[in-house]
Formats: sequence, C-alpha cells, structure tokens
Amino acid sequence: MRDNNNIEPRHILVAVAWPYASADIHQGNVTGSYLPADIYARYHRLMGNQVLMVSGSDSHGTPVTVKAEAEGKSPQEVFDYYHERFLELFQKLGLSYDLFTHTDTENHHRVSQDIFLTLSQNGYLFRNVSAQMYSPGANKFLPDRYVEGTCPICGYGRARGDQCDNCNTLFESASELIEPRSKLDDSDLELRDTEHFYLDLAKLSDDGIAEWIADDKEFWRPQVINFARNLVLNEGLHGRAITRDMDWGIEVPLEGWDGKVLYVWFEAVIGYLSASIEWAKNRGEPEAWKKWWYEPDSRSYYFVGKDNIPFHAIIWPAELLGVRRLYESGEDLFLNLPYDVPANEFMNMEGRKISGSQNWGVLMLDALERYDPDPLRYYLTAAMPETRDSDWTWEGFVERNNSELVANWGNLVNRVLNMTERYFDGVVPDPGELTRQDKELLEAVDQGFESIGSLYDACKFRAALQETLALATKINQYLEESSPWTTVKTDIGATARSLYTSIQAISSLKTLFAPILPFTGQVLHELLGENGFLFGEQLVETYQEETLSHIALTYDGSRAIGQWIRNEIPAGRKLPNPVPLFKKLDQSVVEMELDRLSSP
Ligand code: MF3
Ligand code: ZN
Repeated sequence: MRDNNNIEPRHILVAVAWPYASADIHQGNVTGSYLPADIYARYHRLMGNQVLMVSGSDSHGTPVTVKAEAEGKSPQEVFDYYHERFLELFQKLGLSYDLFTHTDTENHHRVSQDIFLTLSQNGYLFRNVSAQMYSPGANKFLPDRYVEGTCPICGYGRARGDQCDNCNTLFESASELIEPRSKLDDSDLELRDTEHFYLDLAKLSDDGIAEWIADDKEFWRPQVINFARNLVLNEGLHGRAITRDMDWGIEVPLEGWDGKVLYVWFEAVIGYLSASIEWAKNRGEPEAWKKWWYEPDSRSYYFVGKDNIPFHAIIWPAELLGVRRLYESGEDLFLNLPYDVPANEFMNMEGRKISGSQNWGVLMLDALERYDPDPLRYYLTAAMPETRDSDWTWEGFVERNNSELVANWGNLVNRVLNMTERYFDGVVPDPGELTRQDKELLEAVDQGFESIGSLYDACKFRAALQETLALATKINQYLEESSPWTTVKTDIGATARSLYTSIQAISSLKTLFAPILPFTGQVLHELLGENGFLFGEQLVETYQEETLSHIALTYDGSRAIGQWIRNEIPAGRKLPNPVPLFKKLDQSVVEMELDRLSSP
C-alpha cells in the first residue's frame, strides 16, 4: 500500500483512445475509454501525482474518407465538424484532458514521420509487394474500411478489411475475408499488386516484445493480457503493412512514395507521444514531456475499448521499442512501454449492440441537453463494462439516479445542510467533545481514502463507486441513530455534535466521489464554504501557430492537487444557503427515451 505522505509524486500518463472524427460519440465510447480515463486522471491529481492526460481526434484513415464520400463532402469538412463537436462534448461532460488535439497538426505529422524514419534506420521496416483489393470502377485501391465481408475466423458478417470488430482478428489483406465487397458501390473487385512498408513485428517480438509481454503483468486485466500473450507467444507476430494507397493522411517521408500515406493505426497511436510534446511546447517547457516518457518509474495507462487491444498492447509497444530513443533523450534511456492497458469490454443498450450507424445508442451531446453530466457519469460508471459486456437501460439510469444519487447521497447532503441552516443559522456548530460513535463514523469514512483509493488506483471504478455509496448509507444510518431533529428539543449539544460530525463525513465523501462526480463535487465544495476549485479550471484555447486555427481543450492548474484527504470544515464557519445536488427523474423518462429510440 502506498503511503501518501512519504512518496515522491509519480508521473502518470493517462493516454485516452482517439475518437475517429467521423461520427458522434455515444455512451458506449464514453464508458469504454474516455470516462474511465478521466476518473483515473482526477483520482491521481487529487493524490498529488503529476498527471498528463492526452488525446485528440483521429483525423485520418478510411473511417473519415468513407464518411466523406458517403456525404459528398471533403475529409477535411467531415473532420472539422466532428472535432468541434468532440470539444463541446468533452467540456460538457467534464473530461479533463490536459490536451485534446488531433492528428492533423504539423507536430503530429513530424513526430510520426520521425518515428517512421527511426524505425527504418533501426532496421524494423521492410518493403514488400502484395495483392490488395482494387476497384476498377472507382479506379483505386480500397484499403481497410472500404471493404467489408465475412470474418473467416468467427463468421461475423460485417468484418472490415483490416480488422474484425467481433473477434479482434487483424487481417493483412481484405482478400482474407469471405466474399469481400466494396462499401462504395456494388462493382466487382480485383486484386492488384502494390508495394508497401511493413513493420517487422517478428523481429520486434524477438528483440523484446515477447519478453515484455511475458513479464510480470499479473495486474493487467485477464482478458487483455491473455489476448495479447496468445497473439505474441502462441500465434507469433509477423510483418504488418503500415502504409496505404490513399491520399488523406500523413505522407510517407521518402522520395517516390506519392499517393501513399502512413496507415492510420500506425500513426494514431503515435499521437500519445506527439500530443505530449505539443502540450509541453504550449506550456513553454518543451522538454517537459520527457518526464512521462523517459523516467523509468513514471507509469502510462492506455484507456481503450477491447477492439483496440492489439494496437495498444502489441503494435504501439513494438513501435516504441523499435524507436528506443527519440529527440536526444540521453544514452541509456528508452521510451517507456505501456505500464497497463486497462481495456474495457463493450456496453450494449437495452440488450442490443450499440451501433452509431444503426441509430442504436445514446448520443452524448444530445443526452446532455436533457440530463446533467454527473448523473450520466454516475450511471456510466455503475454500469461500466470492466470485466464483461454490460447493458445501458433507461430504467437503470432513472433507478440509479433516483435511489442512489437523489435518495441516498443527495438527500444526506440536503438534510445535513438544511438542518445546519435551520438549527444553527447555517454556521457549522461547535461539537464539544466527540463521542465514540462520532469518532467511529469519521474513522470508517476516512478509511475510504485508503480502501477506495486503492480501487481507483487499480481501475476498479465500479467497486469504488459502490464502496463510496456504501459510506453514504453508513452516514445516513448514523444520522438516523443520532437523530439531531429529535435532540434539538432536548439536547442541543447532541445536535451540534451530530451535525458537525456529519458535515465532516460529507466533506470526505465529496472528495471520495469527486473523480466520478466532479460537477456536484464542486457545488458541494462551495456549499461547505471551501474556496476555489476542487479541480483546476477548464480552458479552451486556440493556437494559430502550428495548425490552422486549431482549437484544443486544456485543463489548467489541475496537476498535483494533493487533496486525497478530508477537508476539515471548521466550527464557526458560516455556510452558504444549501441547494440540492441532484434532481429526481420522473418514471415517464423511460418511456419518453424508448420512444425517441424507435423514432429518431
Ligand atoms: N480511432 C480509433 C477508434 O476509434 C482509436 C484510435 S486510438 C489511437 O477505434 F491511439 F490509435 F489513436
Ligand atoms: Zn471475427
């Protein structure tokens, strides 16, 4: 167990999956990677660790071009539209990126090309001619998502040219699919030879990836480590093409490679590094990123959905290992490989697979028009698919909101603050000597900083939520037993003790809940008369310099807050007038939402 007081702050890189700028974000995406990442980052900031949380829009690849062609727009237009909506959503949902950028910045292009060239110099790239799908009708190659077909491994009917989303198998060529067909039209396809660069994964496996994946990863989620070990150690890695016949993307930095770009998956994962570099530069400390990438005891966590496992647990580590050093890091320092890849499973909705294209999912920007962010975050944490697929139901959302947030935690806060207002004019009462019961309650609650803290640290967010809620129940019981509304007539001292104790307990719970409930956490922070921000302030910045009017989301002053303890609320403090933290939802919400689903 870590001793909070006796350890240097750790550098924690919170690396969050990059959404393709080609579709709106639904609740499955949020619970799959963005929200757990944010909870983790917030917990570690409160712990006093140095967190760097980065991500951005995945600008390139066939998801964007296929969408553009379907809508008769340019890839740039599609990208601009969704990128802006991501920024709006992440602010509204309180996702506290230190930097949310995108992969079409000059910086990212440069870092990606540098990595490509370094891998080449280090002998980890080779060239190879292979037969790829070509459409004579469209007069072009059809990489990746331009082709769909049946997965030869699991039989899933809508596998893509590069990957089956159902069983995670990666394909070298779309011709491996059964009955491959074009997404563009129903013209016939043929195979044509084309030359590409390949990442020599077999060599990288021998040179360290096999050893790394076999080594001490018992804290990894079993489904992640088993999948990765099976691929590396049982099936064995082989070369994988990292260029494509397309023109939307990052150019291959060599003469004679016009018309080909870096494969989106090769370069998007580099975004974690390039965004860290961009963040450091924007801060005016261009070397600062190295703390997270080169210090051997800094830790990197990659929050992704299960379809992203091979890219984060194998391919990105292989790229890092193959590069070894970048930008003069010093002779014996190598880039850090992922410390953990706490990938989530999938969330379904009302028993059916969520699908953006089939209109089956809750678009989060839309939901935020009707619901506050904290109840959404709460339910998405309570139903997070940490160990197996989970299910979003509107019934469940309303039920959890009403019985847990409103009736348990919110009601506790309300009662305590209202009684303080009524009986003591809103001044925190002087408790005199605390009784054994009072002390026991505070000890039990404060023990949560240890036990619930370890759950957050281990990415067990569902359990962290459950245990915190259990403490709310416990404080409610204490309140029932001490019954300050009864003693007020006979023993005002007892009422003072009970309310004082409850206020301290609530103050602790505010922090224990804060990684999940940052908005109402801030409200409660203020209701308890505390100054300033529980977390830093969120800013939206525009940089003109490197990128074309590129807007990014950044948090300011939120690093290393170091408040993973109870804020003592002193007797004698005048508290502001209480307001409720949560709203009860009417049962009719369920029907209304189910109606919306069937008639979008
Ligand atoms: N855009 C990919 C997806 O939505 C995720 C990319 S994560 C990255 O599945 F690191 F590769 F960018
Ligand atoms: Zn499959």
